[in-house]
Order: sequence, then C-alpha cells, then structure tokens
Amino acid sequence: TNKTLLMLPGDGIGPEVFNQVRRVVDWMAKNRSINFDLKEGLVGGACYDVHKQAITDETMQDALDADAVLFGAVGGPQYDNVERHARPEAGLLRLRKEMDLFANLRPAVVFDALLDASTLKPEVIQGLDLMIVRELTSGVYFGEPRGMQDYNGVERCIDTQAYTKAEVERVAAVAFDLARKRNSRVHSVEKANVMETGIFWRKTVTELHASGGYQDIELAHMYADNCAMQLMKNPKQFDVIVTDNLFGDLLSDAAAMSTGSLGMLPSASLGAADENGQRKALYEPVHGSAPDIAGQDLANPSAMLLSFAMMLRYSFGLLKDADMVENAIQNVLKSGIRTGDIMAPGCTQVGTTGMGDAILAE
Ligand code: NAI
Ligand code: MG
Repeated sequence: TNKTLLMLPGDGIGPEVFNQVRRVVDWMAKNRSINFDLKEGLVGGACYDVHKQAITDETMQDALDADAVLFGAVGGPQYDNVERHARPEAGLLRLRKEMDLFANLRPAVVFDALLDASTLKPEVIQGLDLMIVRELTSGVYFGEPRGMQDYNGVERCIDTQAYTKAEVERVAAVAFDLARKRNSRVHSVEKANVMETGIFWRKTVTELHASGGYQDIELAHMYADNCAMQLMKNPKQFDVIVTDNLFGDLLSDAAAMSTGSLGMLPSASLGAADENGQRKALYEPVHGSAPDIAGQDLANPSAMLLSFAMMLRYSFGLLKDADMVENAIQNVLKSGIRTGDIMAPGCTQVGTTGMGDAILAE
C-alpha cells in the first residue's frame, strides 16, 4: 500500500493493547503482503516524561501528514498535578483540534458470543450493528458566550449551543457516505420541538439529503429523547444515527454499554476529505489507560484491534482485512476464550497476550 500509519500507544494499557496490533500488522505483511509505512510517536504522559508536554510539534506534524493515526490511551494518576496545558489529555485534544476531527464514529455491535454481557434482553440486541456519528468540534461544548454573567444582579451561568450550516452539512455528509457502505438508512437526531438549533439541524440535513446526491439513502428524523428510548426498546431499527455533540455524547455511551464491556468498544474520528476523498482520521479504543490493571497483562486488546479494523476499512479500503480481524475476534469469543472484563462461567480466562495469540491463530 505505501500508506503512512502513525502509531501513538500512549500510557497505561495503551502500549499493552498496542502490542497486539503490531502482531497483526506483522502478520498482514507476511501473509497478505500488505505493508504500511509505520511511524511511531510519544503522546500523553509518555511524552510528558521526556519532553514536558503532551505531544511535540514534530509528532503533531507526523499526525497531519499520516494517512491514519492509531491511538492507544493516555493518562494516569501520576500526572494529576501536571499543569493543564501539559496534561496527558491535552495531547489528544490537540490532535482532535489540529486535525479538525469533526465526526466521531462510535459503533455499537453485539457479538453473538457476548449476548450475556448486555443488560438488555438477548432478543432485543441479537445481531445489533449500528453506528452513531457524533459532531465533535462544535455545539454547546464550544459555543460562545459561555460562563458566569451578571443577569440583572443575579448570578447566572450560561453555555451556548451554536451550529453553522457548514458544520451541520459536513457531519451529515459523513453519515450519508457511511450509510451507503452499510444499510442506507440515516436517522438524524435533534430536538426541533424545543430548540432553534434543532430546527436548523433538521432543515439543513433535509436540504443536503435532497440536493447533495443522497436520495438513495433513507432519511428519518427523530427527537433525541425518543431516540434514547428507542435505543433501549428497539435498537435494531437503526443503521446510522447522526447527531450533535451533546446528544451524541449521551446516546453513544448508552448505545455502547447496551452491547457489553468497555474493552470491546472501538471508535474513529474523521476530518475533512481532501481532493481524493481521503479524510484525516484518528482511531482509538473508547476506554482509557486503565491504571488499575496496567502492566499486568490483563487488558482486553479487542477494542484496540477493532479500532485497527475500522482504520483498515475506512482509511485504507481494506475491507477484506477488516472483516478478517473482526471475524477472528468474533470466533475467539465463540470459542470461549476471554479476558477478565468479559469473563463468564464455562469460559477460559486469558490475558492480553493470550487473547492476542488466540486472535492471531484465528
Ligand atoms: P478507563 O477506561 O481507563 O477504565 C475504566 C474501567 O474499565 C477500569 O476498571 C479499567 O480497568 C476497565 N477497562 C478499561 N479498558 C479495559 C480493557 N481494555 N480491558 C479490560 N478492562 C478495561 O477509565 P478511567 O478509569 O476513568 O480513567 C483512567 C485514566 O484514563 C484516566 O487518567 C483518564 O483520564 C484516562 N482516560 C483516557 C482516555 C483516552 O485516552 N481517550 C479516555 C478515558 C479515560
Ligand atoms: Mg462521553
């Protein structure tokens, strides 16, 4: 391929789960003749230890130049007293900001073998495979004005929800493009009944759908509160959900946990497309650095490997290889081999490396 892949393992279990990705990368080179141009950098606490900052300008430039960035996790209690701008999370925030990663993709997929790990009834979630596309760089988390204000002598605090037309259009376009590669259905979610930005969101998405060449995609609109309810009641009605930053934060966490463990959840964050349709992209597990289990070969590498599979699929178009990774994980789970976080009676418990062994064998 000669595609550049920047690897940023980070802290805690980040490097441990990343080691299992390296094994798959080696396997692909040997057995599939797929060679990435690999680069590696420091991020988070690992970078702070050496450079007293969470990411260096050089690594930031590598991220901007790469075809994809694969990110482990950052953070740890030993950095709790570091100044805010140099804290581990600042590395991830800088990557998101400078790469302008405005679309956050969070799949909720139920693996047959893990039906017992969900809090929902098996018949409600069996075969579930949906994708939430959350707007990540605007909305109420960023809108101005914000903060305390004097309101006729009363203390008052405000946040502002604001969206430009272009911000709504670009995230909706990501959702429509994705739906086309899936089951061609998009639910656009807002609260147009009570919010001006909700009315504007609905109007903008509707117009883009009609005039942007997306008539082959089935578009439906839903209020966010109803969506929360429907995700618990009948999640299989959804294929792709596109929503704003705040609603997406809540709905993606709810949808994800209905599928089971944090150790199984991947994510992708996408930026604008270049003239070849290639988007800036960063892939990472949803979980953090898990200091409580770090360094003990206990972490489940599945979320990291599923993030890698998303990268193969969305950045490199290696659909077959993405399927191979996902099916291998599915088969290992079916065979009853599990890490501690998803352990169940009758299964065999293995560590991070053991899980990697089993996945590689599959
Ligand atoms: P966490 O996701 O690191 O851990 C939460 C719980 O889930 C822990 O009990 C952990 O052992 C378990 N867990 C997480 N991933 C697992 C895996 N792959 N296999 C098995 N068990 C797993 O969240 P927490 O504890 O809130 O944060 C720990 C550190 O990670 C903090 O410094 C936090 O700031 C950072 N963090 C970093 C993120 C990132 O890099 N994107 C995201 C979330 C937290
Ligand atoms: Mg959240």
